[in-house]
Amino acid sequence: MKHFISLHDISSEEFSQLISLASKLKKENKQGIEHHILKGKTLGMIFTKSSTRTRVSFEVGMYQLGGQALFLSANDIQLGRGETIYDTANVMSRFVDGIMIRTFDHQDVLDLAEYGSIPIINGLTDLLHPCQALADLMTVKEHKGRLRGLKLAYVGDGNNVAHSLLYACAKAGVDISVASPEGYECSSEIVAGAVEDSKRLGSKVVLTNDPIEAVTDADVVYTDTWASMGQEAEKAERVKIFKDYQVNKELFSYSKPDSIFMHCLPAYRGFEVTEDVIDGARSVVFDEAENRLHAQKAVMAMLMVGDSK
Ligand code: CP
Ligand code: NVA
Repeated sequence: MKHFISLHDISSEEFSQLISLASKLKKENKQGIEHHILKGKTLGMIFTKSSTRTRVSFEVGMYQLGGQALFLSANDIQLGRGETIYDTANVMSRFVDGIMIRTFDHQDVLDLAEYGSIPIINGLTDLLHPCQALADLMTVKEHKGRLRGLKLAYVGDGNNVAHSLLYACAKAGVDISVASPEGYECSSEIVAGAVEDSKRLGSKVVLTNDPIEAVTDADVVYTDTWASMGQEAEKAERVKIFKDYQVNKELFSYSKPDSIFMHCLPAYRGFEVTEDVIDGARSVVFDEAENRLHAQKAVMAMLMVGDSK
């Protein structure tokens, strides 16, 4: 594993190793066992979009591994004023040991990886959110004791989170059903990649416009905001289009009686999910948020230990 940009690029074995390492790091962290395996290393964190969880978990994770993280808002660095990705990648490669980037265009992340000489971690693009999906499946495993053979239903926008969940489920042998309104479905290219990946462990990939069909007998019900970062102007229109895709008590009741509710957060109560579901007993959203820290420590440990320059 050289970069962590798309879960499509990593094997089922690597995916499962990352979850095992993340769980081990989590357990040891709770026991007060420290691992300063990134002592002397620096992670540059470029953000062209807002963040709470990603920023804080990477910064704390880097600190816990003995290294340091630099927060680089695109507004403050020359990238935001038109310096090229090529120059940024080359310059940053001389200073830091890895880059985590959150941005709009997925191609910018691929270019950073191509032109730089250090590991690149995708902290969310318009296309994918792999750190989230890794932490998500770690959370499912904690709550369900296994991954293979489970069914995850994603209801809502066919966005970056849905795309990474498609890949993650395929890598882990979890059946996935995605229900989105017409015109807001997942990218057909990503779906094709997930179908290809799913053959390895034999899981199902189902795309539908019917939320009840997706949620029926699911072990996990997942949703995300109806308007992602950069789509603020479409919010009013999307609220109308997505109204039948709200995860409320009634829709949730079609899933298994012991199913769990998940959301990457930030959540908008009363829109994609109702309060009784997200704040109910079967919601695991804060475990999910916490696991971002442990999952990303595992990613950084896999990518940045040793001589990465
Ligand atoms: N889930 C997630 O990535 O949250 P942030 O936008 O707060 O980083
Ligand atoms: N789909 C959301 C995820 C936020 C973590 C967005 O891109 O804004």
